[in-house]
Amino acid sequence: MTFNIEATLRQKLEERKAAGNIRMLSTRPSMVDFVSNDYLGLARNTELFERINQRISKEKLLTNGSGGSRLLAGNHSLTEQLERRLAAIFNSEAALVFNSGYNANLALISSVADKGDTIIYDQLAHICLKEGAWLSKATSFKFMHNDCKDLEDKLKLATGNIFIITESVFSMDGDFTPIEEIIHLSKKYGANIIVDEAHSTGCYGSIGNGWLCEKELEDEIFARVYTFGKGIGVHGACVAGSQTLIDFLINFGRPFIYTTALPLQSILAIDEAFLFIEKHRELPQELNVRIALYKRLVKDSFNYPTSDSAIQPVIISGNEKVISVAKQLNEYGFDVRPILSPTVKSGEERLRISLHAFNTDEEITQLVNSLANFL
Ligand SMILES: Cc1ncc(COP(=O)(O)O)c(C=O)c1O
Repeated sequence: MTFNIEATLRQKLEERKAAGNIRMLSTRPSMVDFVSNDYLGLARNTELFERINQRISKEKLLTNGSGGSRLLAGNHSLTEQLERRLAAIFNSEAALVFNSGYNANLALISSVADKGDTIIYDQLAHICLKEGAWLSKATSFKFMHNDCKDLEDKLKLATGNIFIITESVFSMDGDFTPIEEIIHLSKKYGANIIVDEAHSTGCYGSIGNGWLCEKELEDEIFARVYTFGKGIGVHGACVAGSQTLIDFLINFGRPFIYTTALPLQSILAIDEAFLFIEKHRELPQELNVRIALYKRLVKDSFNYPTSDSAIQPVIISGNEKVISVAKQLNEYGFDVRPILSPTVKSGEERLRISLHAFNTDEEITQLVNSLANFL
């Protein structure tokens, strides 16, 4: 029997097409943005753009790329300076910059948990948290979404060093983790908590330092992951934790060690974005006003459940159905994308509506009026 890789790949793609969930790249520049994770509008902010470029000129950067891994040619005093600043921002002993949130979670989770240890992750955790767990040598279990009873059942079975993994704001549902109960359980069972703050970075906390700092619970958490490509509007991520944790990641976090470091343009962009957020505290407030408006309009119009964050799922079961609704919304000028199974559970296909500080009242009102036709 002979195998043909191209034929195998084609067959898998055909299966996807037949199931109605083929993924394709697309560009739709002229629609109203209800899809990006640019919650505060920083990715498109021209003032921040100017500041980053001025800073790059001021620092007289004469490099295009970093030249290598942080452990070889890719380290720079500006990167270390940023890490000290991030540690101060996130109220941690130390911080380590990563090329992306995906990389940070893979490096962190796959390295800290070893053979004989146990990782227990929320079933709706982002795939990079799960992949970090699967890449590690530890045993991993999922617990039902935000269900502390199920978490405790799993904790009773845990051995070795125990890690509980959750997100502060869940990426597909926009709901929050029951962190106080999780902290209580972590103490009872001697577990270490890892929280991914991807969707809260920039949007919560007095200086955009996330939901845990806003709640003053950061000291209860073993490791926190912050990403810079969403509310911060640029790119990259960091892990915040103890100096021991950071030294460990530099030594054992393979996705940190064996990759080319971010270029200094990105390092300066992150630094400038945090300075900008510190100065523009009105942005998260504006976002909250938009969230409140969306919630009120939905309640008055079709009384569908809403979240308290910028991420508002609208479940429309079935890949074909949700694709068709998204297409019609696109025709009205709204950039709304369908989230299909298997990205979410079958039957829970949805529109994932992202609200932004820059969405106007009129845009939100029109979106809700249009949604009302489908629900
Ligand atoms: C919860 C969560 N963590 C991590 C990531 C990955 O972050 P990045 O886009 O910086 O790789 C995402 C991306 O959507 C996410 O939703």
